Amino acid sequence: MERLQKVMARAGVASRRKSEEWILSGKVRVNGKTVTQLGTRVDPERDRIEVEGRLIRPEQKRYFLFYKPKGVITSLSDPDGRPVVTDWFREVEERVYPVGRLDYDTEGLLLLTNDGELTHGLAHPRHEVDKVYQATVKGIPAKKSLRRLETGVKLTDGWTAPAKVRMLRSGKEQACLELTIHEGRNRQVRRMCEAVGHPVVHLVRVQLAFLTLSGLQPGEYRELSKEEIRRLKELL
Ligand code: URA
Repeated sequence: MERLQKVMARAGVASRRKSEEWILSGKVRVNGKTVTQLGTRVDPERDRIEVEGRLIRPEQKRYFLFYKPKGVITSLSDPDGRPVVTDWFREVEERVYPVGRLDYDTEGLLLLTNDGELTHGLAHPRHEVDKVYQATVKGIPAKKSLRRLETGVKLTDGWTAPAKVRMLRSGKEQACLELTIHEGRNRQVRRMCEAVGHPVVHLVRVQLAFLTLSGLQPGEYRELSKEEIRRLKELL
């Protein structure tokens, strides 16, 4: 349930201020009854809201899978004028927000949506949604270091939960690891690798739950299919 004027403003009817004026002057009906109380709460999905007899449509829920490039902030604005993820979504009418965050220097899969419930659910540690990262690290980690990453590493904010770790490639001076974690602590993968003596030089999130970057280049996005949305909701 949400405040009537907020729902009206979000549906693009008018600003919140204007919506309030309309409510106060008796131009707004909810389920056939005129409402003049500003605090009135409505269910945007179910209630029938009319402004001067015209039905307003609730904001449509949108779900995007974005390949965030490196050098972009996971935020809606940046005081220093650096690019932010929502710069790529200016032509989308609905206001979408990132689900969780990727560091400025991390690239990869980021969901953006205006579905607050899904955002909340995916961020909740209880749901243990897998996130898969490919980390290029300095040096070649020994088996023992990989095992430490797997079983848990002590960070300043406590031990990490068990993770899945695979060595994908190793060269002379660097190695590429695949880490699957379900926690979402700040800079977690970077801090885990650093803690075992192998700082990250490049980090990509390649998968979130069953969603992958397949078919996308950095800076590209696609809308999720109905089936993907259904499966995501089912996880929560
Ligand atoms: N772990 C990190 O260190 N950085 C990210 O952006 C995501 C996970």
